[in-house]
Amino acid sequence: MLGTTDISDRLTALARDMASTSLGDMLADRERAHSLVFALDDLRVDLSRQRVTAAVLDALMALADGAQLSEKRAALFAGAPINVSEGRPVVHMAQRSAARIASDEFARLRAFATNCRADDAIADVVNIGIGGSDLGPAMASMALSGVKHITGGPRLHYVSNVDPSHLHDVLAKCDPARTMVIVTSKTFTTAETMRNARLAQEWLTVEGRMAGVTAAPQAAQEWGLAADKIFDFDEGVGGRYSLWSSVGLPVMIDVGPDAFVEMLNGAAAMDAHFETAPLAENLPVIMGLLRVWNRNFLGLPTHGIMPYDQRLARMPAWAQQLEMESNGKRVTRDGAELSYATAPVIWGEAGTGCQHSFFQMLHQGTDIVPLDILVPLAPHNMVVPGAWDASHKTLVANALAQAEALALGSANRGEPHRHFAGGRPSSVISWDRSTPYAIGRILALYEHITVVSGFVWDVNSFDQWGVELGKIMAKKFEAVLDSGTVPDGLSPTAAELLARVIESD
Ligand code: F6P
Repeated sequence: MLGTTDISDRLTALARDMASTSLGDMLADRERAHSLVFALDDLRVDLSRQRVTAAVLDALMALADGAQLSEKRAALFAGAPINVSEGRPVVHMAQRSAARIASDEFARLRAFATNCRADDAIADVVNIGIGGSDLGPAMASMALSGVKHITGGPRLHYVSNVDPSHLHDVLAKCDPARTMVIVTSKTFTTAETMRNARLAQEWLTVEGRMAGVTAAPQAAQEWGLAADKIFDFDEGVGGRYSLWSSVGLPVMIDVGPDAFVEMLNGAAAMDAHFETAPLAENLPVIMGLLRVWNRNFLGLPTHGIMPYDQRLARMPAWAQQLEMESNGKRVTRDGAELSYATAPVIWGEAGTGCQHSFFQMLHQGTDIVPLDILVPLAPHNMVVPGAWDASHKTLVANALAQAEALALGSANRGEPHRHFAGGRPSSVISWDRSTPYAIGRILALYEHITVVSGFVWDVNSFDQWGVELGKIMAKKFEAVLDSGTVPDGLSPTAAELLARVIESD
């Protein structure tokens, strides 16, 4: 059971009431436009289309209190070793602090990025990394791609998959004499990354064109990188929270250090809000609690993140690792088995494309999926005639239309195929323009939503032991393929597939 019996019973009763309350009727209440809209400067989080009321938020605050949310948040910001299974503090917020931006470590990154950008001998930069060493920087490069029209610089590419076609298809577009390769890996041991790094090293034709970003600088040096091209970061920065650290180096090269700093400043503003705003006005706290409400009390197993901003198209993939690797756990921080559900399945796509595919299911399917609909109100960094702004208005109209249509529906019982039941919840998250500052603020918001829901579920949101077993098995199967002999003791179907690969060689 989540929370004490009292709180759990209270939330369960509220959820039961909610099942018989029409979201359309709730939305007609003018008061919701005030009481369920939360803001930080131009960032507005409109929860009026969620299945919540003031009473639900009150009860969720009591749940947070019981889960010692304030105390856990204080321990996070104080640098206590809250990643208990790895005995580490969690320090990604320090990466976007003013002190870090003024540090020698940051000056070194800035100088390297600036030199790369100014060097005519470098036409392309390829980042090799996977998981948090790929998803964050690749997503941010795309999110800030408008800046590139103004600042220029080499072309950036991201390679993650060990599938040789990924590296091949990127390198096929690059000149081995005019490319810089950055190997990004916290551990500098990840099999896919190390394999791709070696292939890229063999492909390059000019010395000194490989750099490394890692929390294991010694390993990078032993691998063969020059010490002056290794940029390290703290062990306490988790892979999926690492964009802000030297893992952001490819983004700095891509769009320029100034835009990157602006993004850090936006994230720092969200950190300050999360750390100091009262819980009842605190965006990450309220949104984190809403994750818990939808998942545990309304029983909704998935959560959609739909950015109506094409440059944020990779945000759902980034958020997927963030939330599912952090909170996809089945034991508490102390190792006790949980009796309640944790991380929902996170998924999504950029609008408006998604409206022409899976939105059918969201409007009329048998499952209810709560959504985050994210939309900037005006276009940003466009080198096109003002007339193109009209398209952005259409984009905003579509974002709002989906939220309204999902919530209100449209009764047409005479024609069941055209009947929209409504009652489908969404949050509309809007801001003025997708500046680097606004992007940093949104990304930090999602990091803290993850941390808040993890605190309430009492899981360790900072380890990821669940990825290890598959890695061990992959190594074992690779050894079988290398040896050319399938040993006894494997499952019959695994043995059969491995034998087929060996035969096809
Ligand atoms: O396998 C999961 C994981 O460890 C992620 O947590 C991490 O972001 C990714 O692999 C890459 O790890 P590294 O940066 O050490 O190569």
